[in-house]
Amino acid sequence: MPEELLRVSKIKKGTVIDHITHGYALDILKILGITGRESSGVITIAINVPSKKYGIKDIVKVEGRELKAEEVDKIALLAPHATINIIRNYKVVEKQRVKLPAVIRGIVKCANPSCISNSGEPIQPTFYVEREEPLRLRCHYCGRIMEREDVMRRF
Ligand code: CTP
Ligand code: ZN
Repeated sequence: MPEELLRVSKIKKGTVIDHITHGYALDILKILGITGRESSGVITIAINVPSKKYGIKDIVKVEGRELKAEEVDKIALLAPHATINIIRNYKVVEKQRVKLPAVIRGIVKCANPSCISNSGEPIQPTFYVEREEPLRLRCHYCGRIMEREDVMRRF
């Protein structure tokens, strides 16, 4: 990207979550447990950035932190086109397209309180991805349909 179009600075080390579906940047922060009251580490949020591929996109940059696999899986639920870039010494050392599997296990709980997966039995919540965007999941045990908002409330 030409320098005059660079909207936010490059980071030295950490993670850049790029190609976030527009409108979802703040939800990504919530997933990562970022409240805005952290005592260190620059966090950059860019919303409505023009993008060749998707029209407009959001970007989140988190200095000094590399994401855990579980966090990447949660991001995939809300932003299935996101790219996770790991930065070390200003260079992109790893680029990972998030991928939503056909079956989601253990990441999100069923919204139905009487679902067997909420009964205290050792049963892993399991959902089928019926649609990626807008998100639609179906519980393997009780058939409850979960949409994006239901999933967000349970993170
Ligand atoms: N980036 C950053 N700090 C760095 C290096 C890269 O903030 N030290 C950001 C870039 O601004 C970009 C993202 O990380 O938003 C990915 O960087 P790069 O792979 O260089 O960009 P593209 O080739 O445009 O990525 P893609 O092919 O995934 O669209
Ligand atoms: Zn259920």
